[in-house]
Amino acid sequence: MSDWSAKNPYSSTLTDNFILNGEGSGKETRHIVFDLGDSGLTYKSGDALGVIPRCPPEIVEELLGLCGFSGDEIVETHVGDFPIREALTDRYEIHRVSKKWIEALGPRLVSDDAELEIRMVSRSRTSTRDGSLIVDWSGSGEEGDLPEGYVEIGTMSDPSETLWRELTSDSDSMEDYIWSRDYVDALSDFGHVGFTPQQMVEGMDRLKPRLYSIASSPDFEPGTVHLTVGIVRYSHHERDKAGLCTGYMADRCEVANTEIGVFMSPTRSFVLPEDGSTDVIMVGPGTGIAPFRAFLQQRELDGATGRNWLFFGDWTEEGEYYYRDEMEGWKDSGVLSRHDLAWSRAGAEKVYVQHLMEKNGEEIWEWISAGGYFYVCGDKNYMAKDVHKMLISICAKYGEMNDEEAKDFVETGLMKTEKRYLRDVY
Ligand SMILES: Cc1cc2nc3c(=O)[nH]c(=O)nc-3n(C[C@H](O)[C@H](O)[C@H](O)COP(=O)(O)OP(=O)(O)OC[C@H]3O[C@@H](n4cnc5c(N)ncnc54)[C@H](O)[C@@H]3O)c2cc1C
Ligand SMILES: NC(=O)c1ccc[n+]([C@@H]2O[C@H](COP(=O)([O-])OP(=O)(O)OC[C@H]3O[C@@H](n4cnc5c(N)ncnc54)[C@H](OP(=O)(O)O)[C@@H]3O)[C@@H](O)[C@H]2O)c1
Repeated sequence: MSDWSAKNPYSSTLTDNFILNGEGSGKETRHIVFDLGDSGLTYKSGDALGVIPRCPPEIVEELLGLCGFSGDEIVETHVGDFPIREALTDRYEIHRVSKKWIEALGPRLVSDDAELEIRMVSRSRTSTRDGSLIVDWSGSGEEGDLPEGYVEIGTMSDPSETLWRELTSDSDSMEDYIWSRDYVDALSDFGHVGFTPQQMVEGMDRLKPRLYSIASSPDFEPGTVHLTVGIVRYSHHERDKAGLCTGYMADRCEVANTEIGVFMSPTRSFVLPEDGSTDVIMVGPGTGIAPFRAFLQQRELDGATGRNWLFFGDWTEEGEYYYRDEMEGWKDSGVLSRHDLAWSRAGAEKVYVQHLMEKNGEEIWEWISAGGYFYVCGDKNYMAKDVHKMLISICAKYGEMNDEEAKDFVETGLMKTEKRYLRDVY
């Protein structure tokens, strides 16, 4: 056992980092292999790896430049005092502005609770009564309260204050604003208020590790951890951006060179059945394939006699059939008894994994009613929910249950009591 953890990560290097997609694919999904070296780190199929990202140096330098900081100024952070360059690189999530940081701008943007409004006035004649220009005058703020000889031509609020008021009074506007902006974007709206180094980092989100389902069996790939990583890239406000951790691994982690902080995140539940003769059904579209590559390696190595059925899918066979050679090999050797592929952007109609489940409903029911395990990995928000509904509907139809009974069979029986419907969704 080793005591590496999120707070005390092991410095690993990569032995491989390559794109799995075919030419012309609109996705960037990478196979990334970490060397466990002499760390003593161990894992089992089904576990996840924690990766500690670092913020992009070019964004750190841009922020320092915009604020006029040298980078050496010391700031207090949640884990001690650091030069601000280091704090922005390793302590905070600088790729996405936080709600708290925006809220904290309030006292510096708004002098008091009153609406700050600049009244635009103009002299109606070339001069006032005594011919002098009024430069020091304050009225009541009431309409029409102007020095003699002046007329009101409009009002103008400070745009950054107006924006701040809108963001802090409407949660949808706030979510919309922070979703697509980093601190460089935010400084273009609010930078004029001026920041001390400490004010700049106050309210920023703390940098968090990211978890990745491990795509290898420790016995099949000794000394290494393999990941299947979907790289997050998007463009907003005329700047190309990347997910913090996926951008770091894709763009700045060189094989054999870059030291990357990692730790293990063991699973208690997402494990293979102890009895190798148990059948398993695995539903893992997209990067959801990761733990099932690990399971298949493990089952092959263990000589497990239970059948393996994999539902995989993504946009197209040409672009996103990850690990094609390995999967075809397992099909040929019989490790994969059933292999169903759902290509969602290959034809006019979307084909998703749950559509193929529906087509094979009777057989899925046979496997499950005979004690088989059912696993799902990948997108939590859409895919896993639809697969869940389809599983209930299959159980209702072929298990001759009404909807309530089928729901209870799946959610209480399979999931909670028997623990053979297992999910790793994110
Ligand atoms: C248990 C577990 C296992 C996981 N396994 C895997 C795995 O095997 N493979 C894998 O790839 N991931 C996996 N993930 C997800 C992974 O942990 C990260 O969340 C993911 O890689 C994104 O991290 P990031 O730092 O690159 O992105 P972040 O910097 O965290 O950014 C992601 C955010 O960007 C936002 N975003 C996305 N597109 C846009 C856009 N167009 N405009 C603005 N914002 C946008 C999203 O809303 C999202 O909140 C897993 C997660 C968990 C919890
Ligand atoms: N946190 C992050 O920022 C981050 C980073 C990487 C991945 N992810 C998320 O992790 C998940 C996996 O991403 P991924 O690129 O590996 O694959 P994905 O986006 O889940 O796509 C894989 C396949 O699932 C299909 N799909 C879409 N909706 C579905 C549904 N309701 N039911 C079944 N299948 C559906 C997709 O089809 P279509 O696209 O053609 O509809 C595609 O063919 C996604 O939620 C993705 O957003 C998040």
